[in-house]
Amino acid sequence: MPSSSIIKTIPIMAIPNFKLELLKDGEPKRQEGEEVLSYEFQEMLESLPKERGWRTRYLYLFQGFWCQSKEIQAIMSFQKHFKSLQNDVVLATIPKSGTTWLKALTYTVLNRNRFDPVSSTTDHPLLTSNPHDLVPFFEYKLYANGDVPDLSGLATPRTFATHVPFGSLKASIEEPGVKVVYLCRNPFDTFISSWHYINNIKSESMSPVSLEEGFDLYCRGVIGFGPFWEHMLGYWKESLRTPEKVLFLLYEDLKQDVESNLKKLASFLGVPFTEEEEAKGVVHAISDLCSFENLKKLEVNKSSKSIKNFENRHLFRKGEVSDWINYLSPPQVERLSALVDDKLGGSGLAFRYS
Ligand code: A3P
Repeated sequence: MPSSSIIKTIPIMAIPNFKLELLKDGEPKRQEGEEVLSYEFQEMLESLPKERGWRTRYLYLFQGFWCQSKEIQAIMSFQKHFKSLQNDVVLATIPKSGTTWLKALTYTVLNRNRFDPVSSTTDHPLLTSNPHDLVPFFEYKLYANGDVPDLSGLATPRTFATHVPFGSLKASIEEPGVKVVYLCRNPFDTFISSWHYINNIKSESMSPVSLEEGFDLYCRGVIGFGPFWEHMLGYWKESLRTPEKVLFLLYEDLKQDVESNLKKLASFLGVPFTEEEEAKGVVHAISDLCSFENLKKLEVNKSSKSIKNFENRHLFRKGEVSDWINYLSPPQVERLSALVDDKLGGSGLAFRYS
């Protein structure tokens, strides 16, 4: 983990628009596994600290967190152009914490009057669309490639998702009434899930990341949108400071009791379940519809791609708590436990690992 003195922060107000159309002088540079970047953008990238990437050649330290060049380009466009509206909902996670599940649950809760999860499950959008198609990411979908999307036609409440840490999101969601839901997963399972996913989706030109190498990068904070502890702490502290704005959920809690967490989620979003709905089995139906077993077996989640180039099937692996036990050696467990104690101890944030 680099010392904070080398963390290069780009002031949000000073962000130019690095769209690819800015290409002017000769041939743009191309990095392995990455698309064409403008010289202006390339120059900015080269001023940032960088480390070996997991599925692209480099990860860059941008605004205090690690990310790929294409993500930086999208985040800059998002920060410059996105205007929040009063009832917006933003789902936030660090990758592999259950983002897909959170999108499915939130979409179904918010749209249950249009798409009844109890009686009309045969034509529910989740049966034919991957959750990532129903709740778009700012950085992988809406603002990808430095685009500026027209969001005026979106149904309300507009529901978005992001992996951006809270510090880099907060200026964009200041409008009163914007709600953020953060889903957090224990760092052991998040690491194992990330390691599998990245090796499944990386391009053939990139060599696989060994468990040992990935683990070392992870413990040094070098993973997309990491360090993980800073990502978690940013949202955790904000959820304590403004609980009406940020709801902090744990993947392990959802696995243990999804229905009580669904009720918490619905109340937080201002659409609590009525007694009548509960009696009708709506909460139970949402839990079933969004379950790992149900989503994994759907054709759309077996054969299509929702996020560019990434097959949906890789989003549904085991969906369990404690798979890390099958992979990490005792010294690795000791190192990660000490790190979690050191970074998160005393914060009040605690995990279940099995
Ligand atoms: P595993 O790799 O441990 O199986 P993300 O959605 O943030 O990419 O996270 C992916 C992780 O969430 C994967 O974990 C995946 O299997 C799990 N997952 C996906 N859908 C799920 C669901 N409906 N319920 C529980 N876990 C789910």
